[in-house]
Amino acid sequence: MELSVQLAPKHKSGLLLANPVMTAAGTFGYGTEYSHMFDIQRLGAIVCKGTTLEPKEGNPQPRLAETASGLLNSIGLQNIGVKALIKEKAPLWASWRVPVIVNIAGETVDDYAQLANELDGVAGISGIEVNISCPNVKAGGAEFGTNPESAARITTAVKSATSLPILVKLTPNTSDIVKIATAVAEAGADAISLINTLKGMVIDINERRPLLGSKTGGLSGPAIKPIALAMVYEVAGAVELPTIGCGGITTASDAIEFIMAGASAIQVGTASFTNPRAPLDVLEGIERFMEKEGIKDIAEIIGVARR
Ligand SMILES: Cc1cc2nc3c(=O)[nH]c(=O)nc-3n(C[C@H](O)[C@H](O)[C@H](O)COP(=O)(O)O)c2cc1C
Repeated sequence: MELSVQLAPKHKSGLLLANPVMTAAGTFGYGTEYSHMFDIQRLGAIVCKGTTLEPKEGNPQPRLAETASGLLNSIGLQNIGVKALIKEKAPLWASWRVPVIVNIAGETVDDYAQLANELDGVAGISGIEVNISCPNVKAGGAEFGTNPESAARITTAVKSATSLPILVKLTPNTSDIVKIATAVAEAGADAISLINTLKGMVIDINERRPLLGSKTGGLSGPAIKPIALAMVYEVAGAVELPTIGCGGITTASDAIEFIMAGASAIQVGTASFTNPRAPLDVLEGIERFMEKEGIKDIAEIIGVARR
């Protein structure tokens, strides 16, 4: 059974995954946190926590609220900063079979370029996922991700600052995601990940004010799956680059829906909080489905719902 997928066909060294199951940024730490729970080396790729130039403490508490079939978070990119990541995490990743992709976020185009430059050539890092879509930082990523020109500008800047393959991660909080995807593709992205969280709010009726410390947060989990799926379907039909589907994937059949919509790979996010083995369960479920349906190569079903 052939499960491997190429996420950067236009890149000189490519980004070949053994299978299409990845973890979503911010929901799987640096990978190390989960390595004692299951064999994480079996996954297609690990996308680590969003990383900024300087360490960040994130937003005020509370930063999490459960909603109907979803989770609202306003973590605000709490992370150890790129220098510590290179020193403390990358050496371990270099000994792993599973490729690690570093998710980056900044407040200016220069921040993104500098991050890409620092990560270039570091052993243990196989690619960069550019988060132009975080709704939880004030002067940050989300604004870039809602404007095609600035999304393209960041993509170009990152591309010229590193020789690593580049995934650009889009926000759903925009009126036309296809326009952003097209701009990013033309600017040289190797693949497009979508979607990040949707802006949302919960009000504490006893306190009579928004529950989250930063008032609004990003909605994730099963509640957003149909939205994510429709966006992947649209974007996969509009760009020639591989797309990576993300949003509410909890089971193998969720993942297969995204693959049939056109995603070359998928990311498991919030599901890992309730079931730390979720990415592996999804992978094994995909394998069982392929076996049952007599599918020899995952490529046979990528985009099959579009035909
Ligand atoms: C607690 C939390 C932290 C997240 N942090 C990041 C991040 O640092 N960078 C990023 O691009 N996306 C981040 N995300 C978004 C996820 O990677 C994913 O795009 C989103 O949650 C939708 O997928 P899901 O419904 O499977 O969780 C975060 C999501 C959650 C729930």
